[in-house]
Amino acid sequence: MTANQLPTQLPKIQKAQQVKGKTLVFRDANAEDAAFILSLRTDEKKSRYLSTTSSDLSAQQKWLQSYSQATDQAYFIIEYQSEPIGTVRLYDAIDNSFCWGSWILKDGRPSQAAMESALMVYAYAVDHLGFTAAHFDVRKGNERVWQFHERFGAKRTAETTLDYFYTLSLEAIQASRTCYAKFLPAGVTVTN
Ligand SMILES: CC(C)(COP(=O)(O)OP(=O)(O)OC[C@H]1O[C@@H](n2cnc3c(N)ncnc32)[C@H](O)[C@@H]1OP(=O)(O)O)[C@@H](O)C(=O)NCCC(=O)NCCS
Repeated sequence: MTANQLPTQLPKIQKAQQVKGKTLVFRDANAEDAAFILSLRTDEKKSRYLSTTSSDLSAQQKWLQSYSQATDQAYFIIEYQSEPIGTVRLYDAIDNSFCWGSWILKDGRPSQAAMESALMVYAYAVDHLGFTAAHFDVRKGNERVWQFHERFGAKRTAETTLDYFYTLSLEAIQASRTCYAKFLPAGVTVTN
């Protein structure tokens, strides 16, 4: 077998107990986060462009219990000064690309939270998990959010009546990490 025939290991989405950024911390979600997650996902304004969530607390707890056994996704509570301020999820790895979403920040978040949390997702996925691309979809009506991703270098690859589909190359990810380095100057520190 020659060098270029060696089987290459594809990156995998892995959970982490904690991913520490500059001012924010991602913490692995657990069943005790059910009420907080529900409060975000059933907020009429915030959930407008999200897939619908049942308002049943025990259903959310069950979902989080089954998540604790999952090995193909990472669901984080975003914390600021030890208080939960939002959620973000990495899932659906396809070859070298990961998908992220379930990105919600509560009202009253600090103004750096969106930029820093997006940069933390990329730092964790690229530096720690080894992904070299990202993909996601955003509701067409969620204009502020797709504009945010386009400023990060996301390229629109397809659309349906409801959604735009995006990919982000490693070059675009790294260029944005450099451009916005003041939000996350030293990458992330991961505790497994
Ligand atoms: C998606 C979500 C987490 C984004 O957070 P957000 O705080 O609304 O993000 P914003 O676009 O307002 O950006 C936050 C700040 O970063 C700034 N910012 C955004 N992009 C920037 C850039 N490229 N360069 C510099 N600053 C930037 C904004 O100006 C804003 O600053 P301000 O607070 O001083 O006005 C939030 O809107 C949310 O919870 N939405 C509901 C759920 C949802 O639809 N999620 C997406 C589907 S997965």
